[in-house]
Amino acid sequence: MSDTICFRNIGQLVQVDAATLPGIRKRQDCALLVRGGRIDQVVSDSAIKPSDHYARVIDLKGRAVIPGLVDCHTHLIYAGERKDEMEQRTSGMTYMKILENGGGIHHTVRQTRQASATSLFVAAKKRMRRMLTLGTTAFEIKSGYGLDLKTEMKMLKVGRKLKAALNVPVTLTYLGAHAVPEGQDREPYLQWMIANLPRFKELADGVDIFCEKDVFSTADLRRLFRQAKLLGFQLRAHVEELSHQGGCLEAAKLGALSCDHLEHATPNDIQAMRTAGTTAVLMPGVTLFLGGTKQPLVHSMLDAGVPLALATDCNPGSSPNYNMQTVLYLAALMYRLTPAQALSAGTFGAARALGAERDYGGLLPTQRADFLVLKTKDYRDLFYYFGENLVDQTYSAGQPVTGGHAPANF
Ligand code: NIG
Ligand code: FE
Repeated sequence: MSDTICFRNIGQLVQVDAATLPGIRKRQDCALLVRGGRIDQVVSDSAIKPSDHYARVIDLKGRAVIPGLVDCHTHLIYAGERKDEMEQRTSGMTYMKILENGGGIHHTVRQTRQASATSLFVAAKKRMRRMLTLGTTAFEIKSGYGLDLKTEMKMLKVGRKLKAALNVPVTLTYLGAHAVPEGQDREPYLQWMIANLPRFKELADGVDIFCEKDVFSTADLRRLFRQAKLLGFQLRAHVEELSHQGGCLEAAKLGALSCDHLEHATPNDIQAMRTAGTTAVLMPGVTLFLGGTKQPLVHSMLDAGVPLALATDCNPGSSPNYNMQTVLYLAALMYRLTPAQALSAGTFGAARALGAERDYGGLLPTQRADFLVLKTKDYRDLFYYFGENLVDQTYSAGQPVTGGHAPANF
């Protein structure tokens, strides 16, 4: 046992062990044994004897321990900000109108094309460190602010460097189909993307598309995904966010790991996700930030047995939010999920959306020892004392995450 770290005196330990909600398992007064950065076993605290020879014994003083949060949909590599758009929206301008006028995603594309790889890396690393201190221990990051070969590759290479530098799980997604680049037509751009997909195989785990009126159509999604599937990419899609286009049904039929947003998804779409085993990724912070009123049919999804996940969608336009704790309580309040359901969706469910639920997300034996020691003794405080960081210490692979308190440079 000299290679084992013992985290003892855990007042409440929460594990998540099923994709269907809530799948929560709570244990009182126990100890977590970690070996080689992974969960070895959970034992009763009274079984820990002073004579046991652990590499280290850490007394958690009766606090609650939960699995690390998994942010399965982010655009956290970008340059520039879009505060002026937020201001415009408060006076009634819509997200799509801003995009049509050359703002929105196009604004961030211009900034990101100009930015050096180093400056993108430094800014994104700061964001990730803050996210780690807020309890996110695994990340998905999309490209999509380049819309040309050079910048899309630059973003994905920065993503790979972040993964190596922070040594945490990072899934990378090629989102060339985020918008049609300014000055180009949709059809030739789509053909270019499809033809060039093999060049992204080394850099990205998955392919994504923004399927929306006046952006990319369901037929575009089908063509891109067929090719991406042949090449062995994971498939995830921004679908049915601002209007119903049919992308969810198509993506599910093609075996997408996740369909994301889904405010306008129909019962038929829900059945298709259920049949395909596609995870529904919900992002209540986006609805809130864009001032939307339409919410996904979350309870129909639950009743149908569709696996649910939660994410920030962290990006400079529709969700400048790094905090999964915020997303969890918004999901509970806006969707009326129980704390157990919301926690499960933000951990195990989100890991499932990335195809990684065997590796992390549940705090189960053999999984990565990615967990959060809370400041309190009951995980439900995350949904009660909303609006502050309730994470006392984040552990990644059994090691404390340090240096997260970087100055708030957004
Ligand atoms: O995931 N829905 C479309 N695209 C992004 C927003 C990106 C941006 O506005 O910069 C999203 O919400
Ligand atoms: Fe997104």
